[in-house]
Amino acid sequence: MLTIQKVERIEGRISVPGDKSISHRAVMLLGISRGSGKIDGFLPGEDCLGTIRCLRQLGVEIEQHDSVVVVHGRGRRGLTKPEGVLDVGNSGTTMRLMAGILAGQDFACTVTGDASLLTRPMDRIAVPLRLMGADIGGTGDNDSPPLRIQGKSLKAIDYILPVASAQVKSAILLAGLYADGETTVRETVPARNHTECMLEYLGAQISMSDGQTTVRKSDLEARDIHVPGDISSAAFFIAAAAALPGSHLIIENVGLNPTRTGIIDVLRDMGADIAIENLVLDHGEARGDLIVRGKALHGTTVSSEMIPRLIDEIPVLAVIAGLAEGQTRILGAGELRVKESNRIASLVSELSKLGMTIRELPDGLEIEGPSCVRGAVVESYGDHRMAMALAIAGLFAQETVKVRDSRCINVSFPGFEHVLQSIVN
Ligand code: S3P
Repeated sequence: MLTIQKVERIEGRISVPGDKSISHRAVMLLGISRGSGKIDGFLPGEDCLGTIRCLRQLGVEIEQHDSVVVVHGRGRRGLTKPEGVLDVGNSGTTMRLMAGILAGQDFACTVTGDASLLTRPMDRIAVPLRLMGADIGGTGDNDSPPLRIQGKSLKAIDYILPVASAQVKSAILLAGLYADGETTVRETVPARNHTECMLEYLGAQISMSDGQTTVRKSDLEARDIHVPGDISSAAFFIAAAAALPGSHLIIENVGLNPTRTGIIDVLRDMGADIAIENLVLDHGEARGDLIVRGKALHGTTVSSEMIPRLIDEIPVLAVIAGLAEGQTRILGAGELRVKESNRIASLVSELSKLGMTIRELPDGLEIEGPSCVRGAVVESYGDHRMAMALAIAGLFAQETVKVRDSRCINVSFPGFEHVLQSIVN
């Protein structure tokens, strides 16, 4: 249980652990590359450690010391049939991206996960992978895990993504590395492009133009990878500092890939003062320092085109919207219902307990601010981002807020409580 008290302001200079999406991809792509590559800034959270475990079971030699990882790649065709089932815990990213790689191997395996992952839809990857010739299946109508994958020879497809999802896009592109012909994925609203950036950096035959990515069967050459701090983790502190007048927070080395910076744009729309300094570009990934100054914020409307650029930040955005003056509407965000918890239902239930005025919409949320936040015992639903968003709400509450089942924070942000303690006074 995490216990949080009200604070007057937030002040300090921090950094946050490595980007989860990039850390997963770095281990997977180096695992199927030729040669060895070092990853620094790797996120040693439970999800990404699960990806390392999975690749080791597939025969890849990996050394890991905290945030430094060395992967000795086996080449595109070098993975070996695992002993037993691959258990990826809570990580949807590991399951969906690995399914793309496993679909093209010459062995069969089964991928499973924890109770939350067993409820999540896998038909979104199973359908396009079957079109490529894959033999893949889960349980029930939505192919939920465990997933059985029998590797096959694959053929290219040209696929329009029915949901804006980087995990689906990535699964298809990774399978495309094994497929005959040109595999194309088309998206109407661009989702995060870390897979594309890393494939290009490691020498894949890939081309990207307006909403369309094409990959050909190609081998990857290992290179060192630098992982920036995760903007999705930084978001908890960016949002808290932005909404607390008198705060001054510097967050160093944050990943600023434009497909991920929606939270900065929306908070600025709400009146936030957020500056970016020391911007650099590293193998296609931007990073820089953020300087946040606190002030009173006002409500806004977040429309569906923005959602993929801040999908994981909506829990903390909902908290901040409850503190802002006026109404905030978050629309076109139905995907929140199939995340680590049903985040629309979880947010409505738990923020209401804190005295916030929040309503469920079929595909989003409507929040009326400003609320006077009261103390309560709230539930994380075993969802790491819910737990951290509720902890941030506690910083603004009149009485103590207790977040139950907060251990899940280790999925993406080991050390969250310690960083939080360092900036409150
Ligand atoms: C991720 C993509 C997003 C995001 C998840 C990580 C990724 O999921 O919510 O936390 O690393 O590709 P979807 O692609 O399903 O939207």
